[in-house]
Formats: sequence, structure tokens, C-alpha cells
Amino acid sequence: MSLFAKKDLPIGIFDSGIGGLTVLRALQQTLPHEHFLYLGDTARLPYGTKSPQTVRNYALNANDILVASGIKALVVACNTATAFALEALQEKFYPLPVIGVITPGAKASLTIPENGPIVVLATEATVKWHAYRHVLSELEPHRQVIEWPCSLLVALAEEGWCEGPLVEQIISKLFSPLFASLETKPACLVLGCTHFPVLKAAIQNVVGDNITVIDPAHTVAEEVSALLTEHQLHRINQSSANTQFMATDGIERFARVAQVFLGYPITTEQVELVTVVPTIISQAKKAAS
Ligand code: DGL
Repeated sequence: MSLFAKKDLPIGIFDSGIGGLTVLRALQQTLPHEHFLYLGDTARLPYGTKSPQTVRNYALNANDILVASGIKALVVACNTATAFALEALQEKFYPLPVIGVITPGAKASLTIPENGPIVVLATEATVKWHAYRHVLSELEPHRQVIEWPCSLLVALAEEGWCEGPLVEQIISKLFSPLFASLETKPACLVLGCTHFPVLKAAIQNVVGDNITVIDPAHTVAEEVSALLTEHQLHRINQSSANTQFMATDGIERFARVAQVFLGYPITTEQVELVTVVPTIISQAKKAAS
């Protein structure tokens, strides 16, 4: 394929569900001339309550679809998949540039000029395996990092339940042991799950205005732009950029709730239903032995 044709390919964006649409939205604002191809593995959502091995297998398996469709770069717009599958995806699809969301999220948290602990709100899996703490310990070794599991918020976001007293009560209940354990005011709260930015206003209402809540999506978009520059992959033809959507299940629901995440409506016809062929590891192993 010529370099000109390659530059015209879409950027692939992957999430377990519709959360990655918050990253897509930032990418569309930062890179308005690029085509995008989004895949949500809605058939197997949530990833955030599953084991590292399962998340890695799902992510490796689902991304075959995006890569086979023809993309010039892959954005893993899911913190959980980034935590457990980023390196495996980079290896599997080399030389395709593959970028995750955790390092940009960690960098975004360090832009706040305060010294208190960095609180990361994330899925159970991202928290349990200290994905943010590992990255932050390399960027700023002595910084206190508190990772707080909020998988329930994924379900609220997938329902499009993002505001109102009931949502704030749930957030309040989730946060009360966190705030009871804090000795000093946190420097910031980082939304370490791409489903959470749609709940940002509700989270801000609960924690109050003197704590900064960070949505890393724009930092991710800046890093994707830098990656395109590094690989000389920015689109040259600046006419009519388009975005296509794929989901592994429930395309009506995907289209219905997408508006909450994107800020504009999409129709069911714009979402293609794709089927993942699962890799059954144990049977493959048996057959090999
Ligand atoms: N959006 C995903 C993340 O950023 C998690 C949602 C899920 O649990 O599948 O971690």
C-alpha cells in the first residue's frame, strides 16, 4: 500500500463498550480531518471485573476485527485493556502504532500543581493490579497514589444514567470510605476508566469544586496526534472525514446511549454488528499436547 493510501486509513479505537466514545470525542476535536473506526466489545463487557488473562484474550481477539478492517494506528481507549493487553497488542500487530490511555492519564494527573495524593478512580481490575501506580511510580517515584475501585459506575454509564440525585447518592456512597481514609486533600481525582467522563459533573458535585477532576481524554488525543506525527501518518486529504462504529452485540442500545458520550446522535444503521470468534485457549492447548 502506498504511504498516501495508508495515511487515508482510519484510526482504530477500541473499548470494551461505549466508554471509549469519550476518547473518540476528544480525538474528533483534536484531529478533525482524520477518519475513525470504533469497536466496542459490547458482547463481553464489562472487562473491569475480569481476570488479566481474560481481558488480554478478549482484547487480542476483538482487535483482529479492527486491524483486519484496515487501520493506520490503534488507540486502546480502555484503561483495563491497556493495563493487561497493551504490550501484547503492540507485539501482535507490530509495526502498527498502538497507544493506550494509562500513561497519558498519569501524565495529565501530574499537571495539577498540588502535592496531595493522586486519587485514581478505575475498574476493580485496573485498581487491583495497580496499573496507574506502576506508571506514576516511574514518572514521579515518591508521589502517593490511591487507586479506588468504582466498577459500578461502568454500569451506570452504560445505561446512560449520568446525573441526578440518585446517581450522586451512589457516587457518594462509593466515595465515603475513600474520603474517610484520606489524611490530606487530594491533588486531583483522575478518571481512570473511559466510561467515567460522562459522570464527571456528578462526581464534581459530590467532591466539591476545590478538588480537580481530570478527564485524560484530551491528553490522550494530544499523544495520538504526536504519534501520527512521529510515524508521518497524518491524513493529507482534508476532505470529509468520517467515523464508523462497530459493536459485538446490542447495536440498538449502542446507538441509543452513544449520544450521551459523543454529544451528538447516531443511528443504529451507523453501527455494524460484528462477531468475534473466541479463541478457546484450553482446547488449543489440549490439541497441541
Ligand atoms: N472503559 C473501560 C476502562 O476504561 C472499562 C469498562 C469495563 O469494565 O469494561 O477501563
